[in-house]
Amino acid sequence: SAADKGGWDSFMAKEITENPEAVSNTLMGRIQDGAVTLSSLDVLGENYFREIDRITVIACGTAFYSGQTAAYAIERWAGIPVTLELAHEFRYRTPFITDRTLVISLSQSGETMDTLMAVRYAREHGAKTLSICNTQGASIPRESDAVVYTHAGPEVAVASTKAFTAQITALYLFGLYLAQERSTLSSDEIADLLDEFQTIPEKMRAVLEEHDRIKELAHWMADARSVLYLGRSTGFPIALEGALKLKEIAYIHAEGFAAGELKHGPIALIEPGQPVFVIVPSPRHDDSLHPKIVSNIQEIRARGARVLAVIEGGDATVLPYVDEAFACPPTSEFFEPLLRVIPLQIFALELSTAKGLDVDQPRNLAKSVTVE
Ligand code: G6P
Repeated sequence: SAADKGGWDSFMAKEITENPEAVSNTLMGRIQDGAVTLSSLDVLGENYFREIDRITVIACGTAFYSGQTAAYAIERWAGIPVTLELAHEFRYRTPFITDRTLVISLSQSGETMDTLMAVRYAREHGAKTLSICNTQGASIPRESDAVVYTHAGPEVAVASTKAFTAQITALYLFGLYLAQERSTLSSDEIADLLDEFQTIPEKMRAVLEEHDRIKELAHWMADARSVLYLGRSTGFPIALEGALKLKEIAYIHAEGFAAGELKHGPIALIEPGQPVFVIVPSPRHDDSLHPKIVSNIQEIRARGARVLAVIEGGDATVLPYVDEAFACPPTSEFFEPLLRVIPLQIFALELSTAKGLDVDQPRNLAKSVTVE
């Protein structure tokens, strides 16, 4: 009913505005004196996190992209290889698992059959399993060795939004916890990261202010036949997630690419007028990605692409090269994806709305796929 939607036209519209609470509620009670407490992990044993030598993340759909996003930070912070696999691929290829492998499953519903079967497979083959889940007592957390719940609140719209940012939040907390246990970051480094982490809900609210401008763009683009998304580093899975959202609810062909792959194929798709979202990192990070992305933008622009950029507010170095820019507040490298994804969620919502589609119940899709 309209009341359940809290005055919004759709659950998805409401849930996008709940991104800040999804993050703050997932952080709540888990940060103490500049350190992470995740007492639900104690069951894995005192030295467990020093003994593991790899992490494999399994998930489907949007949850997979949250894993792909967080893997960059977990590897950097905790000094452990993190590989990802779609749950339905994992179990049919004799995956490499030992008793030193931690298998992390990501699932909003906790009922996705492919993910559940992959968790069972991992346990049978000697790995410990950690469930990151948004649904208390669901099948996947019940069948896992340990669980860290996301506290996004119930998600009703088929297309996942706030559960995505809550999953990244839980994975980041886990990554920092791991860094504490493995002594791969100093306590000052961890405290600084946690300070920045806690500013993210407020920064997300600032991004939500871009809603009306994105809505205008989406209504203008209602006839688009194809939209491309480009990003590098954590911007890459965000590009994939942005494209998935558009396919799911607006039925528009959309593809995400790692921007560095452009010259290896996708640039052939660029013709005059082709809309391309580009996820632009902050120019302040000392990783040299920003100039690379700017040169990618110049390459596609020279071929007529319409560039829609998600940038750090005030990034004047990119503005001359883009057609539209949506601004996010500055934050440190690994927290950027939590902000950059929001304009893409809003864009899909508004494009679907502009086409008069059922935003919450897209054709052919289910909120939770409980069959293989
Ligand atoms: C379905 C939904 C997606 C979701 C995926 C995984 O395909 O339509 O929105 O990302 O399942 O769901 P889970 O509940 O395991 O996160």
